[in-house]
Amino acid sequence: MIERAPIRVRPTRSADFPAIIALSQAVYPGGTPWSERQLASHLHAFPDGQLVAEDERTGQVVGMAASLVVLWDDYDIDMNWRDMTDHGMFTNHDPEGHTLYGAEVMVDPSRQRQGIGRALYAARRELVRGLKLLRIRAGARLRGYGALADRMSPEDYVLDVVNGRLTDPTLTFQLKQRFRVLAVVSDYLRHDPASRGYAAVIEWLNHDVARRKHYAGRDSRFLPRKPKPAAPDKHRWRLSAWHRPLGHGLVETRPPPRHEHRS
Ligand SMILES: CC(C)(COP(=O)(O)OP(=O)(O)OC[C@H]1O[C@@H](n2cnc3c(N)ncnc32)[C@H](O)[C@@H]1OP(=O)(O)O)[C@@H](O)C(=O)NCCC(=O)NCCS
Repeated sequence: MIERAPIRVRPTRSADFPAIIALSQAVYPGGTPWSERQLASHLHAFPDGQLVAEDERTGQVVGMAASLVVLWDDYDIDMNWRDMTDHGMFTNHDPEGHTLYGAEVMVDPSRQRQGIGRALYAARRELVRGLKLLRIRAGARLRGYGALADRMSPEDYVLDVVNGRLTDPTLTFQLKQRFRVLAVVSDYLRHDPASRGYAAVIEWLNHDVARRKHYAGRDSRFLPRKPKPAAPDKHRWRLSAWHRPLGHGLVETRPPPRHEHRS
């Protein structure tokens, strides 16, 4: 059995910045990594919203989650990442808001699929409960969509992921954190060929605060379909050596003719 190092999720400190920058280079090779200026701005705007996952044995930073609070009414559902985060600076953080906006979550590629992302989200939900916020919202970039873009629309792709017919490296993870899809948007992230810029706007509601109307307002198209229970076969129990199906749901119930013994 592989022994996994224990992980601790804790608030980000400025001493973590070099490790976070190295992490973003490893997670997004060829992309623009987080800068010290941006990370310092996050800590200044909303220190509670900045989290790292640390290997307890080595102290190494193996994951991070960066968030801000927004007054969602100030934004359209199809706002892109840059506008939602003020170019990654979080200077639009608004303590009067009710929505925690998940701007980033990433885990060291060599440590993915070990529950670290899940631990970061558990800490995020704890933060939301502690601050009595209504919800978490985020844009889940559709990383697997680019490869299928010539075969299906992004909406159909999301429906297939929601209903478990396809797996997306980001959205499947987010759905497992009990997010629901609100909408599919384009031009969310520039320079992201894997998703072709498409993202699913996702939401997790804080049950302590949310009311029926918050659940009811979700687009039902993107809610996972419950499999229909198999219709009971009314006649099956009657089928035996004594009965034979006649088609069209009819069953002959009279006993088979006795063999006539001629002497
Ligand atoms: C998305 C990401 C944060 C997930 O972190 P992680 O530590 O690997 O995820 P976990 O190990 O905690 O997985 C939690 C659950 O999601 C599932 N999951 C994670 N990655 C998955 C994938 N690529 N495909 C399918 N399921 C996945 C796990 O199987 C697990 O399921 P379980 O709860 O049923 O066991 C990580 O893959 C990552 O850093 N990706 C690149 C950055 C990125 O795209 N971030 C999102 C920006 S929108």
